[in-house]
Amino acid sequence: MSTNVSEVQLSSGSFIDVVKQRRSVRVFDPSWTIGEEELRDILQTATLAPSSSNMQPWRFLVIQDAELKQKLLPIAYNQQQVVDASAVIVVLGDTKSYEKAETIYDAAVAAGYMTEAVKEDFVKRSVGLYSSLPSEVMKGIVQTDGGLVAMQLMLAAKAKGYDTVPMGGYDAARLIEAFGIPSSYVPIMLIALGKAAKEGHPTTRLPLEEVVFWDSIS
Ligand SMILES: Cc1cc2nc3c(=O)[nH]c(=O)nc-3n(C[C@H](O)[C@H](O)[C@H](O)COP(=O)(O)O)c2cc1C
Repeated sequence: MSTNVSEVQLSSGSFIDVVKQRRSVRVFDPSWTIGEEELRDILQTATLAPSSSNMQPWRFLVIQDAELKQKLLPIAYNQQQVVDASAVIVVLGDTKSYEKAETIYDAAVAAGYMTEAVKEDFVKRSVGLYSSLPSEVMKGIVQTDGGLVAMQLMLAAKAKGYDTVPMGGYDAARLIEAFGIPSSYVPIMLIALGKAAKEGHPTTRLPLEEVVFWDSIS
């Protein structure tokens, strides 16, 4: 069934409401399909996230095909949501993100945000810095940026009436093998996205007293 998401209305479209209404949903309507246009819209909003030097190292493998979802099921330790969700988005971090520096800064020149000379300087510096970082440092950077884009993706989905669950419960090595993920890409998480068939269960958060330090950490 293909459904227009405008049928799924949030009680309020305000940002804080979207944040408060998002919950991890693990039971999805398996008959619900999401259109490519809507998925693109969610991904586009997600990619407005900040990233280190604006290198935008996130890459997304969008899995919608029923057979591919079945292939993913054992890799995700048989978590049923990967089959029943309309799409599973594999969020990846490209440790060679700097290879797109020219493309990124060309767009900034075309938009009138910088001159060609500034662009050339930025590209040179970005490529020089990022290509020489130790792999563990680069991995940390793409994981941080990947976390930001993933969060933004889940909120963008919620704002459009969809639900999600971020998933770290999968075998990364098997995922890489089964889906031919290049060795320069680091799997960050899976996000199952679809129409909730059962609400996510409510969760609590630690009080700020447990997690916030004001001026001094001791
Ligand atoms: C990095 C990460 C990995 C997670 N992995 C899984 C997972 O594999 N399966 C699952 O059902 N939930 C997973 N979760 C969801 C958490 O259990 C959930 O976010 C947490 O209990 C708080 O609930 P809420 O998202 O509804 O606020 C994961 C969450 C994060 C951030």
